[in-house]
Amino acid sequence: MLRRLLTQTSSRRLLSCKTPFFSKSSPSPFSSLSSSPDPPRSESSTVEHVEEANAVAGKTISVDRSDLFNPLDHSHEPAPDSELVKHLKSVIKFRGGPISVAEYMEEVLTNPQSGYYMNRDVFGTQGDFITSPEVSQMFGEMIGVWTVCLWEQMGRPERVKLIELGPGRGTLMVDLLRGTSKFREFTDSLHIHLVECSPALQKLQRQNLKCTDESSSEKKAISSLAGTPVHWHATLEEVPSGVPTIIIAHEFYDALPVHQFQKSPRGWFEKMVDVGEDSQFRFVLSPHPTPASLYLMKRCTWATPEEREKLEHVEISPKSMDLTQEMAKRIGSDGGGALIMAWMDSFQTVFRLLENTSSSTYWMIQGLLI
Ligand SMILES: C[S@@+](CC[C@H](N)C(=O)[O-])C[C@H]1O[C@@H](n2cnc3c(N)ncnc32)[C@H](O)[C@@H]1O
Repeated sequence: MLRRLLTQTSSRRLLSCKTPFFSKSSPSPFSSLSSSPDPPRSESSTVEHVEEANAVAGKTISVDRSDLFNPLDHSHEPAPDSELVKHLKSVIKFRGGPISVAEYMEEVLTNPQSGYYMNRDVFGTQGDFITSPEVSQMFGEMIGVWTVCLWEQMGRPERVKLIELGPGRGTLMVDLLRGTSKFREFTDSLHIHLVECSPALQKLQRQNLKCTDESSSEKKAISSLAGTPVHWHATLEEVPSGVPTIIIAHEFYDALPVHQFQKSPRGWFEKMVDVGEDSQFRFVLSPHPTPASLYLMKRCTWATPEEREKLEHVEISPKSMDLTQEMAKRIGSDGGGALIMAWMDSFQTVFRLLENTSSSTYWMIQGLLI
């Protein structure tokens, strides 16, 4: 492109080096954005060249302004509220005051009608972000190796419940099944239980696991990858207990709602979401202690006095705490283990909790920081 511009000498605008870039005689591209409609995108009208007629012959500077003439169409008018925004505003209105960040987050992510995860595939190059199982098949295969090792340590039980929390597209489970397919006794023992709130992602998991319907139920099928039964549930509590269990959670804790607290000269206050006079969402601090403040006190006991002194903001996820306790209880009674992979903050919640958990029965929860 640069070479083409440099060789195109005809129809170029010549400016002396003393000429101001946006003089009255050479209209500014910025003012033209607002005052006149965009010219059609054609070679001659969208590429503008500036040559500096320099004393030294042969020195030429060319500037490609093609993109300046075709900015993305945008307006300064506020966009109309989406269904989700209308819903959140009505919750705040009828509640008679702001809602917690956790409630806001839960609605935004998992509202049955328009929550972020509920109706679409958000992963990969066509989506918004990518996760380790989507980057390389080795990720799921390595977790498969870990799972077989754990099954061996558990005494090779004939039946094992393999639970995955928040399986996304189901890629990790597909790679795990393919990677462990040589260990027939292991794959024959498996009953897979996927905990997934999104109907759209459940459908994708069913496709990727190459499921055939076992019954008319949407929540039950057989994966033809290893002939394994697969069940779907909205929560971990829904998964029946009573069988040795292996639980995998990759980037699941990170999707759970958090309460946020902020230190002020008057003490700690919960950060809330309100609607301002301009009808936009805004953060405010709750003037009173909120129910989640109880969790703040628990969280603060995890820090040393010096750490507490330095803290300005704290995130707390009661859902993560409850989930970890449910996992520990389940593995404590049924036997097995769990592998939790999460980002730093979510990870701390899990492990500080486990430090305080004791169980005489065989259970194991391992964590991997990602
Ligand atoms: C960040 S994605 C991780 C997906 C997958 N584990 C991966 O690594 O590619 C979070 C997953 O958890 C699911 N999810 C989020 N919140 C949930 C909830 N409260 N209950 C059940 N599933 C949830 C999402 O639909 C999604 O499948």
